[in-house]
Amino acid sequence: MTSVALGRAAVLGIESSCDETAAAVVRDGRVVLSSVVASQHEIHEEYAGVVPELASRAHVERILPVIRRALAEAGVGLGMIDAIAVGNRPGLIGSLLVGVSAAKALAWALDKPLIGVDHVHAHLYSGALVRADDDRPVEPSSLPTLALPALGLVVSGGHTSMYLVRSWTNLARLGSTIDDALGEAYDKGAKILGLPYPGGPELDRLARSANANDRAFDMPISRLSPESLDFSFSGLKTALLYAVRGVPGKNAEHPSIPVPREQFPDLAASFQRAACKAVILKLERALARVRSEGNAVSTLVAGGGVTANSRLRAELAAFAKAHALTLHIPPMEFCVDNAAMIAGLGATLLASGESSGLDLKAIPTTSAT
Ligand code: KG4
Ligand code: ZN
Repeated sequence: MTSVALGRAAVLGIESSCDETAAAVVRDGRVVLSSVVASQHEIHEEYAGVVPELASRAHVERILPVIRRALAEAGVGLGMIDAIAVGNRPGLIGSLLVGVSAAKALAWALDKPLIGVDHVHAHLYSGALVRADDDRPVEPSSLPTLALPALGLVVSGGHTSMYLVRSWTNLARLGSTIDDALGEAYDKGAKILGLPYPGGPELDRLARSANANDRAFDMPISRLSPESLDFSFSGLKTALLYAVRGVPGKNAEHPSIPVPREQFPDLAASFQRAACKAVILKLERALARVRSEGNAVSTLVAGGGVTANSRLRAELAAFAKAHALTLHIPPMEFCVDNAAMIAGLGATLLASGESSGLDLKAIPTTSAT
């Protein structure tokens, strides 16, 4: 497979790593002409988590209609597509295989370049995306430059990591969660509070209730060791569980008195405060570390489902301002899983000379770095 010059290239992106079947068409690596996401929430809701076998079956049913819709909404035919990008890692193997197989078939049939994209790296890239505007065509040259090296943060349902992004082909992971991902902690926390699945956005909403007091409960802000750049959210989740259900092994020190429902907004706000503070604390450490090692970092790229969180967005903006960083954070629709980020990063990788063969593999784990 040959590489593609970016120029006015339109890249079709395909994403099927977990429970969203998605396709998108992106021009020049940044301008999103269409982004279609078929969510499977209704399938997995009764299990309060993604069931891999059900997810891959649903991908098989949805992948072609989703691709057709993405092309139609972009107003392009298959003949106008310059390359195919696909999320080939990390994810559920059965789910990944559906998208990877579809992408290979299209690349082969159209004789166009194929590029495999790391889903986690694509989340980092998603802040570079803008929606095409029908009334006012978006010129990529008018978009704010995403200067590298950047400090990167991914906070999603499956991943919570920080990176030094030297280039889009050279990313070094600085730290990641040693237990739950932040989105997973939100979803489990929401379940403890009796909120519907997937609960992250619901917990965020409850935390924003009028008069919710984010200091009503002293929730743990995980630091780990003084130098650590890793995250841990299981203690926060357990603290919420004990507050709601009472502490097991009731004794004088830890009275087992569950919090009444009227105080759930305070609990949610306190949980949210601790979760966001833990993220910012680790970003502070990571930025100090990479700068002290001589990296002239002036950009913060953040992505993943939890960057849709109202408080985290505000805290990331304040953090960036305080440290003279330009923040690239995705518009709300590109925070959660989507194929536009796959197409965008795919275009950028192709432009730097990378491409994949038809032997591209679906791989459950993220890249080594
Ligand atoms: O990036 P994503 O779609 O999937 C993975 O790659 O994992 O992230 C989904 C996660 C879910 O855990 C969801 O609850 C969380 O992002 N999420 C939020 C919010 N919106 C989505 N968590 C907290 N606050 C939100 N507003
Ligand atoms: Zn994701």
